Amino acid sequence: MCGIVGYAGCRPALNIVVDGLRRLEYRGYDSAGVAIVDGEGDLVTEKRAGKLANLEKALAEDGATGLAAGMTGIGHTRWATHGGPTDRNAHPHRSADGRVAVIHNGILENFARLRAELEAEGVEFTSETDTECAAHLLAAELGHLTEHTDPAERLAEAMRRVCRRLEGAFTLLAVDNLAPGAVVGARRNSPLVVGCGEGENYLASDVSAFIEHTRDAIELGQDQVVLITPEGVSVTDFHGTPVEGTRFHIDWDASAAEKGGYDSFMAKEIDEQPQAVADTLLGRHTENGDLTLDEVRLTDQDLRDVDKVFIVACGTSFHTGMVAKYAIEHWTRIPCEVELASEFRYRDPVLDRSTLVVAISQSGETMDTLMALRHAKEQKARVLAICNTNGSTIPRESDAVLYTHCGPEIAVASTKAFLTQLVACYLVGLHLAQVRGVMYADEVGAVLAQLSEMPAKIQTVLDAMEPVRELARDLADAKSVLFIGRHVGYPVALEGALKLKELAYMHAEGFAAGELKHGPIALIDEGTPVVCVVPSARGRGVLNDKIVSNIQEVRARGARTIVIAEEGDDAVAPYADHLIYVPRTPTLLAPLVTTVPLQVMAGEIATARGNDVDQPRNLAKSVTVE
Ligand code: F6R
Repeated sequence: MCGIVGYAGCRPALNIVVDGLRRLEYRGYDSAGVAIVDGEGDLVTEKRAGKLANLEKALAEDGATGLAAGMTGIGHTRWATHGGPTDRNAHPHRSADGRVAVIHNGILENFARLRAELEAEGVEFTSETDTECAAHLLAAELGHLTEHTDPAERLAEAMRRVCRRLEGAFTLLAVDNLAPGAVVGARRNSPLVVGCGEGENYLASDVSAFIEHTRDAIELGQDQVVLITPEGVSVTDFHGTPVEGTRFHIDWDASAAEKGGYDSFMAKEIDEQPQAVADTLLGRHTENGDLTLDEVRLTDQDLRDVDKVFIVACGTSFHTGMVAKYAIEHWTRIPCEVELASEFRYRDPVLDRSTLVVAISQSGETMDTLMALRHAKEQKARVLAICNTNGSTIPRESDAVLYTHCGPEIAVASTKAFLTQLVACYLVGLHLAQVRGVMYADEVGAVLAQLSEMPAKIQTVLDAMEPVRELARDLADAKSVLFIGRHVGYPVALEGALKLKELAYMHAEGFAAGELKHGPIALIDEGTPVVCVVPSARGRGVLNDKIVSNIQEVRARGARTIVIAEEGDDAVAPYADHLIYVPRTPTLLAPLVTTVPLQVMAGEIATARGNDVDQPRNLAKSVTVE
């Protein structure tokens, strides 16, 4: 939620900050704003409700007077929590004396109390946000710190004092007009990374904001304050004790975060899936099938001791977990539960040191998943993260991590991250099975060989998408679309429905096909589109027979059936109004191909309805609040 950028350097800050915001807009797009300190010590802010384009228009109309000259700045793109998406509530927020400007990602849980205290002292608030409290508190602390001679250090100390009073989750950045050349940042339970340049430094919610300027970065830990100036970066904890951030090099470049000729990031990311899957498999196993985890803090003995697996995740990543359950239980014979991260810790799950908790998250910042993993660690369970974002919180707090190498996923709706998460889960399942001796190396090798064929199969699906696009345009006016599947096709059905809801703003539901007769079949009306994900007749013949019956049942009640089946499955053909064939694939790996037409269909329906497929309404890419 919310994208944050800070710059302190030797070039005009405005363009750098706005460019950074453009790359972070996927994190929230309810409003945007900037604050720039110029060399004269003037602090100028500009902010607008709506997408970044509104701010850019306002900056162009104003001729950006005052803003253009400054070489220190901060910028924010917002996903609203406290206070509606208005100009007034847009960040930055300034202190009553106008001295400081603050931007914030997260929620200050004690803001009502802080606000009451400040109001009792006579401070007048100009917005409904929790963030504004931080601006007033910071100005007050700066006012008390008269003994400090270095203005930048004074700003950092004031920020530490403010942070010690705050509860909740926050990334805060601030500038002070008496400290030109300095930006201070702080983080608790919310992302913030540092970009290290030559004579300039950056702060941002993620590296994409500064990747075109530098690929050298520093990961910050929990409860830390960072001060950047053109000359350097210094990090302390909230009490002022210096700490070393972890340096890392970003292994993708700016072009990976651009559209590259596509109409949308989502279309590009769907097309990148064969490569993303291949990259996620690359270098992951030795010839005898042993898996290489990126950062291993789990031994083979730890894995042999595992007697239960819990997968925790949200949204699309949760659907990955549902597929993974089938593979992990089948290959390892260890019981595997999949839980929505937001429910996990409140249910008081039974965990101990022989439980392996797998936390799946593209962003590595999803607050629900982070809280679930912390709960698991408190109960002494081992935590393995499957994540796409280097330097993010979830892998850092886990005992081991397996990165999905799919590159930056910018479109809000997850596509290539889903497929690569599936691959990562398959690798984890195979590794567990091998370490525990339930699969021999040659059996693991056989599945790895099947996985290595998947990029080509996904490409085959992508090459045959024109009829799906045509069908999608025809479905653009449907009131509701239902999705049914069995076995691993069930989570695929849920994922197809989620994509359609979030992109097309259309009613869509996914069901286990066997559940239809227990209620949902009443939804079928004349012409209701029903997308049916059919398991292979070769692998799970009995399931194939059953879903063919389900397709007949819905068709008999007027449904328009859209059937996704594997090549050569003739049994379904008579009952399909539209038949989409995908290449023959082992049952457990089938979601890698059956999901793709559903992604394309959702994107095309959304486009036909005039929606922004990259930035669907009300959503944000990285959900850093509970
Ligand atoms: C849907 C989507 C979301 C995310 C969910 C978890 O297309 O992208 O449902 O999957 O918010 O996000 P991560 O994987 O970053 O934890």
